[in-house]
Amino acid sequence: MNVLVTGGAGYIGSHVVKLLGESNNYNITVIDNLSTGKEDAVLYGDFIQANLADNFLMENIFKEKQFDAVFHFAASIVVPESIENPLKYYLNNTVNTINLVNLCIKYNVSKFIFSSTAAVYGEPDGTTVKETSMTNPINPYGRSKLMSETIIQDTAAADKDFKYVILRYFNAAGSDIKGRIGHSFPDATHLIKVAAEAAVGKRDKVYIFGDDYDTPDGTGIRDYIHVDDLADAHIKALEYLEANDSQIFNCGYGQGYSVKQVIKTMQEISENEFKVEIIEKRPGDPACVIADNSKIIKKTGWKPMYNNLEIICRTAFEWERNSEILVQAQKIGNIVSESRNESLLKGL
Ligand SMILES: NC(=O)c1ccc[n+]([C@@H]2O[C@H](COP(=O)([O-])OP(=O)(O)OC[C@H]3O[C@@H](n4cnc5c(N)ncnc54)[C@H](O)[C@@H]3O)[C@@H](O)[C@H]2O)c1
Repeated sequence: MNVLVTGGAGYIGSHVVKLLGESNNYNITVIDNLSTGKEDAVLYGDFIQANLADNFLMENIFKEKQFDAVFHFAASIVVPESIENPLKYYLNNTVNTINLVNLCIKYNVSKFIFSSTAAVYGEPDGTTVKETSMTNPINPYGRSKLMSETIIQDTAAADKDFKYVILRYFNAAGSDIKGRIGHSFPDATHLIKVAAEAAVGKRDKVYIFGDDYDTPDGTGIRDYIHVDDLADAHIKALEYLEANDSQIFNCGYGQGYSVKQVIKTMQEISENEFKVEIIEKRPGDPACVIADNSKIIKKTGWKPMYNNLEIICRTAFEWERNSEILVQAQKIGNIVSESRNESLLKGL
């Protein structure tokens, strides 16, 4: 099967490429403009550095490769930035999705797996969110994703040969169990990544946004899903589409941890009591968001393997520590080679 992975050099996309490659069942093409992704995170397949907005190039790639399925990860993902610069999000997320779906229809690509987000639910009423819960995104990022969902659904309704799975991710976290790839997003705001950075000394402290929520310890509760389990959900989604109709699936573990629990776990694993400061709540942050994941489990047989906060935090920490060691080694390497150059020059 010929598969296209947009955004496959990014955090979640690269973990999916890894699973696709390891299975040996797919010819993989990755398209990424490396705006936040890293080429060395692409462990398998043909890598093409390209912007999805380059319609001419994209059409040529579709013509040449004859894809059977598309995994669409490429997007801009920072909520505060989406509030400051909404057009960037509507262009990169929504318009580029229209163009990509258009190419799928034109070149008979029948399966489309789309990266959506729990942000489409906005501020949910209950604690556990079902796929049928009301969608009411509260920022341009969430709206850009919900619009994309609608476009994909309307297209599939009009063209019976085009099927989709929309995966609404909760909080992706952790890194490749074998430590080969991880979360390299610059200036990330994801709690587990931020805590791992503090644990290795890349940040002074971790901020807690409010500690008077209606939760057992007063801090917000979220459903953190290990990125390898999330990646596996994509393979299951593609297999599901072989014999079934389009679906929307929540991707989470169906249980949550508070901000304080995450920080405590990271401090214990890293043996580093990094500083923590409690500050004002952020507008629009709900107390608790947990996925009802019964639908994806029942329909696809997805079996999460790493539903354990310690494993999630440990893999995130190990990745951060190893990449920090690499940065330091490169610095030392540069100093050594500079001093060698200096002594060579002196010797001349
Ligand atoms: N990280 C999470 O917890 C989370 C939660 C919900 C949904 N998502 C969704 O998952 C997807 C992947 O997120 P991620 O966390 O891996 O982010 P990421 O930034 O690591 O990955 C996105 C990738 O897309 C690439 N990209 C962006 N715009 C592009 C363009 N115009 N052309 C080509 N490549 C482009 C980037 O270089 C990057 O490699 C996104 O669609 C995001 O909305 C992520």
